[in-house]
Amino acid sequence: MPDTIYQSSTTAPVNIAVVKYWGKRDPKLNLPTNSSISVTLSQADLRTHTTAACSSKFTEDTLEINSKLQDVSGVRTQACFRELRSLRSALESADSSLLKLSTLPLRIVSENNFPTAAGLASSAAGFAALVRAIANLYELPASPTELSRIARQGSGSACRSLFGGYVAWQMGEKDDGSDSVAVEVAPASHWPTMRALVLVASAAQKDVSSTSGMQTTVATSGLFPHRAKVVVPAAMAKMERAILEKDFATFADVTMRESNSFHSVCSDTQPPIFYLNSTSHAAIRVVEGINKVAGKAIAAYTFDAGPNAVIYFEEENKDSVAGTVQALLGGLDGWKGKTFETQDTTKLDQ
Ligand code: PMV
Repeated sequence: MPDTIYQSSTTAPVNIAVVKYWGKRDPKLNLPTNSSISVTLSQADLRTHTTAACSSKFTEDTLEINSKLQDVSGVRTQACFRELRSLRSALESADSSLLKLSTLPLRIVSENNFPTAAGLASSAAGFAALVRAIANLYELPASPTELSRIARQGSGSACRSLFGGYVAWQMGEKDDGSDSVAVEVAPASHWPTMRALVLVASAAQKDVSSTSGMQTTVATSGLFPHRAKVVVPAAMAKMERAILEKDFATFADVTMRESNSFHSVCSDTQPPIFYLNSTSHAAIRVVEGINKVAGKAIAAYTFDAGPNAVIYFEEENKDSVAGTVQALLGGLDGWKGKTFETQDTTKLDQ
């Protein structure tokens, strides 16, 4: 059908790392210097909605994010398009009755319902949704782990947004990146009482993009090799165990140390990178205070490449954690707090 528009829509959730990815061993393939773990937040509130369409009516590949046309010539977007087209083309070669969609220009329209590039993992949800929307359009029989290999090439952390619950991105060993993929550590239903309070300290775009920040850290930080080789492998093992055993005190300890370790290598970068601001520091002190009063860790802060805080806690401690944070920080300029549940993979579009 010459002028038909074929299309498919999907949504993808945000994930917030508790063991951080920071450093690429291969910038072209987005292969990391260490493994990482994240928690996927409910896409009822934070999500990217993407429609992928293809048609002979379109003259070229286009990508629109929040109504703004983007440049698709970048290596990351190109890598995702190329990989997905080649999987579709293999299906078309094996079955001649299939429409030749792989040769048609793509039109991708994407909408985030949260601030883009403000440390709220917009690229993660964005590339996960882009890859899944095209995979659905092409009817690829690919598992979330297979799609994670492709989404990783768009944005590293995107590979973890193909799953709900607790997700590990295994750094892998191979040079071609075929084993650098995301796997589920546990479904959201394993630990359904986990909550994440997101405090938006600034919705402004970050100063230093994660890609350029990581590259400078790898090239200049003296602390970085120790983090990648010693600190993170130990944190990965501890975190996986804490999740499987639903041990919140250990989960919190590793989460906070990991955030601090990541921001320490950022400050140890030349020139130094500062993602946190004084409001972020105030949030750290409030969480320390909450845990001191409780006599154990009932709250855990973490910060990505921006000043916004994510504070994990269990539902039973909602009043002591979310209530206290709101009471102490709610009056500060620019703070908006909202609590999210975790997202189950089974409720994601597959
Ligand atoms: O996926 P990228 O390239 O935006 O990097 C994300 C890096 C952090 O958010 C800081 C950490 C992580 O593991 O998500």
